[in-house]
Amino acid sequence: MKKALKIIAVSLFVMILAGCQNVSGDSATKTMKLAHNQTLDHPVHLSLVEFGRLVEEKSNDTIQVDIFPNGQLGSEREVIELTQTGAVDVAKVSASALEGFESDYSIFSLPYVFEEYEDFEHVMNTESITDKIYKNTEDIGFIGLTYYNAGMRHLYTKDREVNDLSDMSGLKVRVQPSQTSVNMIEALGGIPTAMAYGEVYTSLQSGIIDAAENNETALVGNNHGEVAKYYMYTGHQIVPDMLIMNAERFNQFSEEEQALIQEAADESTAYHEDVWAKAIKEQTETAKNEMGVQFIEVDKGPFIDAVQPLHKAYANDEKTKDIYQLIMGGKAND
Ligand code: GCU
Repeated sequence: MKKALKIIAVSLFVMILAGCQNVSGDSATKTMKLAHNQTLDHPVHLSLVEFGRLVEEKSNDTIQVDIFPNGQLGSEREVIELTQTGAVDVAKVSASALEGFESDYSIFSLPYVFEEYEDFEHVMNTESITDKIYKNTEDIGFIGLTYYNAGMRHLYTKDREVNDLSDMSGLKVRVQPSQTSVNMIEALGGIPTAMAYGEVYTSLQSGIIDAAENNETALVGNNHGEVAKYYMYTGHQIVPDMLIMNAERFNQFSEEEQALIQEAADESTAYHEDVWAKAIKEQTETAKNEMGVQFIEVDKGPFIDAVQPLHKAYANDEKTKDIYQLIMGGKAND
């Protein structure tokens, strides 16, 4: 009940905001509300701004994209729900957060399903694979438009170096709200706690958790490097950020408009690659030199071995075996 009220309240808030913007805007302009949980200087925000610019340019300013960053419309889970109802038109969320809505998305949280970025890139640029995933959620209210590179996820801790599996014992690690990620930390010997991204900094600070796992932008862009001083290159997941859109809203656009929205999404994904690479390079340097974070190479072998039972279970489960086969068969080196 409380949750339903929150969705209604946020929906009303979004409608009021949109209303205010329309007062000065051209009434012929169609506005799309886009929500995400990152800061204004995060690389994915820059690429979403580029998406908006491209939509506006390609539509001769007849479609406008209004971005609500910083999780101001809620956590990723809440924003996915708002996208289902249509209170939000477009959202950028982690594929891990989508697992609770469509089990196909759980493949991205299965540890070491991609060991190399090239394999991930190949899969994400194979239309027969992405089409299946992106369109599979139409009946629950949204479709996928594109993905953004969100790097490799690595483990980081407040005050413990993790060199091998024995160091994982008793470690309280925050994971995304994804059952597969919970299973991953258990398989590695740690104690998982699923929570929204916005709560991680204070939870690390107060000791509710000892560790988290993410790409390097979490250290600088989200300031986690102020409290977490060890960053281990475990490379356990490559989870894309997904751009999803309310299905009904998309279908209300003309075919030409749909095509230009799709084109803008694809082009912003390509644009993002450079923005991402630059941000990772710069932020790693900042974390090292200004925050005193130590970057540590680890032997991934034992970590990969420890999660093999998860792969087996995943490959045999009725719900996940098709997507597992599809992705394993779609990798560049297979
Ligand atoms: C990444 C991802 C976010 C997500 C976050 C998380 O930073 O880009 O969308 O919220 O991980 O760990 O929750």
